[in-house]
Order: sequence, then C-alpha cells, then structure tokens
Amino acid sequence: MAVFFTEKQEALVKESWELMKLNIPDLSLQFFTTILEIAPAAKGMFSFLKDSDVVPQNNPKLKAHAVKVFKMTCEAAIQLREKGEVVVAETTLKYLGSVHLKKGVVDPHFEVVKEALLRTIKDAVGKKWSEEMLGAWAEAYDHLAAAIKAEMKEEM
Ligand code: HEM
Repeated sequence: MAVFFTEKQEALVKESWELMKLNIPDLSLQFFTTILEIAPAAKGMFSFLKDSDVVPQNNPKLKAHAVKVFKMTCEAAIQLREKGEVVVAETTLKYLGSVHLKKGVVDPHFEVVKEALLRTIKDAVGKKWSEEMLGAWAEAYDHLAAAIKAEMKEEM
C-alpha cells in the first residue's frame, strides 16, 4: 500500500540533511559512538572498529557507512513523497543485502542504527529540531530498512 509522505516531511528531512552535510566528520564519529553505546557488541562487525579501543577519527570507511545511512535515508524520504514507496535500484539492493548478511547483521541491529541516527540528527540540527522532523526521518529509515531486510531474507 502506498505511503502518504507529505511535502513538509520531505522538506524537513532535506533541510536537516543540508545542515548535517556541513559537519560530516563529527557527525559520523558521533553516529558510531552512539551505535556502540547502545550496542557494544556491534563493534566486532565493523572492520574499522574491531581492532581498536576507540572509535577512530577520520576513518574513511566509518565515514562512508555513516554518510550512506544518512544519505540513503534522505533519498528514501524523497521517494516516499514522490512515489509512496522506497525503491532501491536492484543491483544496489542486492549488494546491500549480501554485505549485511555476510557481516552478521540481524533485525534488532536496524533498530540500534535507527536510534543512533535519530539522536545524531537531533544534535546536528540544534534549534531547528522538531518531533515532526524526527518522525519524518524515522519513517523514511523504516521503509529503507524494510527493503534491505527483505533482500537479506531473500538471500538466506
Ligand atoms: C556495510 C548501508 C544498516 C552494518 C554497508 C555498506 C553500505 C551500507 C552501503 C557498504 C559499504 C561499502 O562497501 O563501502 C547501510 C544502510 C543501512 C545500514 C543504508 C540502513 C538503512 C546497517 C546496520 C548494521 C550495518 C543496521 C549493523 C549494525 C554494516 C557493516 C558493514 C556495512 C558491518 C561492513 C562495513 C565494513 O566493515 O567495512 N552498509 N547499512 N549496516 N554495514 Fe550497513
């Protein structure tokens, strides 16, 4: 069933992503620090975390994963508004499914990453923050995560 995602919700996500882009190194670090605060065991899954005592600063892989999550969620919001659903390109989705399956990612991890994402956005946007903004990100993330999880189940 098509989702009704409003122009206002889309604008809130885009506006906050524009602010976040100004500070990717700090936000990436904060995002991963929060993931590990909520789920310390997740450390072992990430190649760039498992051999280090601290979350590494300026690590390109760490930054890449953080930016992918932020950016793909923002794109999901745009698709929800335009089409009422999240459509990830078939090849991208296959790749996402296999990477996460191979790394041992399971459904509850997606909730951890969601919580870390929402906390990071809240800190990033400061006074611009609103419940509605967070709700819009949460909804876009849930649809994107559902697409990845479905692909992972398909491959199992
Ligand atoms: C890798 C995106 C959620 C754990 C990746 C890659 C992408 C990606 C694009 C490949 C990176 C590359 O090859 O450069 C996403 C998106 C997510 C999501 C869009 C949610 C909407 C998660 C969750 C976990 C996770 C919930 C588990 C906590 C990993 C791990 C890797 C990975 C362990 C391999 C990274 C490495 O060690 O280099 N993800 N991911 N991801 N993802 Fe995710």
